[in-house]
Amino acid sequence: MKHEIVEKNIGLMIVFIIVAISFGSLVELVPLFFQKQTTEPIEGLKPLGAMELTGRDIYIREGCNVCHSQMIRPLRSETERYGHYSVAGEHVYEHPFLWGSKRTGPDLARVGERYSDEWHRAHLYNPRDVVPESIMPSYPWLFQNVIDAELVGKKMTALRKVGVPYTDADIAGAAEIVDGQLEIDAVVAYLQQLGTLLKYKR
Ligand code: HEC
Repeated sequence: MKHEIVEKNIGLMIVFIIVAISFGSLVELVPLFFQKQTTEPIEGLKPLGAMELTGRDIYIREGCNVCHSQMIRPLRSETERYGHYSVAGEHVYEHPFLWGSKRTGPDLARVGERYSDEWHRAHLYNPRDVVPESIMPSYPWLFQNVIDAELVGKKMTALRKVGVPYTDADIAGAAEIVDGQLEIDAVVAYLQQLGTLLKYKR
């Protein structure tokens, strides 16, 4: 029996197992690289504006993404709480993605427009002022740090190189938009647009 040869030869068995598993993975993965649904932006998606983009980088700098995911799974318990499940087309302009999997705090994929700007400001200054049992850190320095206006145009230029459709006008006008503004304003602007393009009942 030919099968016996494979069963009695562990090396050959390993090779065949690898081939079998790779084949299964490729069949599932490769089509995704070419499917419109996973590679094209959803309708109405625009690259982040100068304030929002600056806010996103502060969000990464402060490690917000270490405690907060931005990916709602298509499970009832998630969609009831957070809203429409996340789709790939919402994230095509993001470099890097901030999907995450560790949720010390709630998922933020659709937190945009859920609270007022004032609520976010109070919460980021000291979370315990609005959510007494919160274990989230305070970020008072965001209320003092002035945004470095030089950087944002350069970031847009870099993102354009990897396919984010910023126009020359976006890049030229970016510094003026953020000039003199505080970091807290950028973070709130970033949070308030999160996930607002795709909506249904929360
Ligand atoms: C140590 C973990 C941790 C870090 C780091 C952290 N958070 Fe949180 N966050 C939490 C927890 C826990 C909650 C839930 C309690 C509360 O609302 O304060 C929360 C709640 C929130 C909420 C309210 C979400 C909702 O749906 O009610 C927002 C918005 C938020 N965080 C934004 C941020 C931002 C922006 C940063 C970075 C500047 C950040 N968080 C950093 C743990 C964290």
